[in-house]
Amino acid sequence: MKRLAVFASGTGSNFEAIAQAIDEQRLNAVIECLVVDNLTALVIEKAKKRNIEVFAFDPKSYHSKNEYEKEIVSLLDRKKIDLVVLAGYMRLCGNVLLDSYEGKIVNIHPSLLPSFIGKDAIGQAIRYGVKVMGVTIHYVDSGMDSGKIIAQKSFDVKETMTHEEIEKQIHAIEHELYPETISKILEGKL
Ligand code: GRF
Repeated sequence: MKRLAVFASGTGSNFEAIAQAIDEQRLNAVIECLVVDNLTALVIEKAKKRNIEVFAFDPKSYHSKNEYEKEIVSLLDRKKIDLVVLAGYMRLCGNVLLDSYEGKIVNIHPSLLPSFIGKDAIGQAIRYGVKVMGVTIHYVDSGMDSGKIIAQKSFDVKETMTHEEIEKQIHAIEHELYPETISKILEGKL
């Protein structure tokens, strides 16, 4: 059984979608731990309900990124993690993490990369007025949303769609595409 670590900072709807795919045997893996950089993130409760170990840390209480990433790497090593899944983790990975796990870290981003990197990608795309939007899953390197693309899925933005409807559509795509893509990676199909 392949072992996942999920990293998140917020709501955790992608965390939940991955956990559900595991429950429904669409994804043959186990979530060994959740890593969170925000002590009040809603995703923490979601992990606790599922008895998944949580490593929640406050970056401000460390002197440097190296310091907290060393703790994260020792957790990942101890748990023998096969794939690190960033799901709304709002932080760049530093050298300590990348030196040990580069090539084994994936991220999901709510735009068709390389367009609209960084925060509020959905808002950026709406303000730009694009007619096609979508989701990207990519490997993580030291840049911002810049690693090799693994999967993308797009949809046409209808004139009548509100911001809320667009967000809903993006999240619906994410919740299908992420577990499906993780499964293909773990099976060596990608
Ligand atoms: C998702 O839209 C993901 O693409 C982005 O952050 C959001 C996380 O949402 N990286 P959630 O916490 O999984 O609900």
